[in-house]
Amino acid sequence: MPDFFDVVLTQRAARSFLPDEVDDETVVRILTAATHAPSAENSQPFVFVVVRDPELRAVIGELTARVWEGGARDAEALRLSPGFLREVEQGALGGVAGAPVLVVVCGDARLTFPEAMEASVFPAVQNLLLAAHALGLGSALTTMPVLAGSGLTEALGLPPEITPLAVVPLGHLPKPLGPPRRRPLAEKAHLDRYGNPLPGL
Ligand SMILES: Cc1cc2nc3c(=O)[nH]c(=O)nc-3n(C[C@H](O)[C@H](O)[C@H](O)COP(=O)(O)O)c2cc1C
Repeated sequence: MPDFFDVVLTQRAARSFLPDEVDDETVVRILTAATHAPSAENSQPFVFVVVRDPELRAVIGELTARVWEGGARDAEALRLSPGFLREVEQGALGGVAGAPVLVVVCGDARLTFPEAMEASVFPAVQNLLLAAHALGLGSALTTMPVLAGSGLTEALGLPPEITPLAVVPLGHLPKPLGPPRRRPLAEKAHLDRYGNPLPGL
């Protein structure tokens, strides 16, 4: 098992995948790590729908492409560098949906209050991403497919109290992703009061 800091400092969003399967045992291991995340009042409102069905994965791909072409591309083009835009576009137009497993991460409204829902689901997504990476698999936090109105809810038969919040592809990588790009910690951390540099940086 790799060192924790090697895992956390090299995890990145993957947007292309080999068709090779990810076995059930591995998915269970990754989702078990996800359920160990913190949640408000230990409410554990996360729900994981593991999508393997090629037809359903294609539907998720179509929903993502619809959101991308229906406005997300134009919005992102104003903010992302050309290379980054190409990566996200390639993911939105089939790369992400090409993973053999798509985990649709949802929140169960019966288990926590609205203000705590996302803060209680996204730590589980982060655990999921890290566990996948620790096991040598690619993954990514994506939200585009959940922005396509009720499409995902209808395709998966989600009851009204279960809201989709993210779709995480899981699969084997065609090639390593390279190092993550991050702003220096000195820009992000402060001592006691905003603007005071943190010693050690
Ligand atoms: C709230 C949120 C929504 C995101 N949605 C998408 C998405 O819809 N599609 C996508 O390709 N990446 C998505 N990402 C992934 C980010 O682009 C990625 O985490 C970020 O660029 C860092 O890149 P890295 O993981 O390669 O270091 C999302 C990330 C977050 C936190």
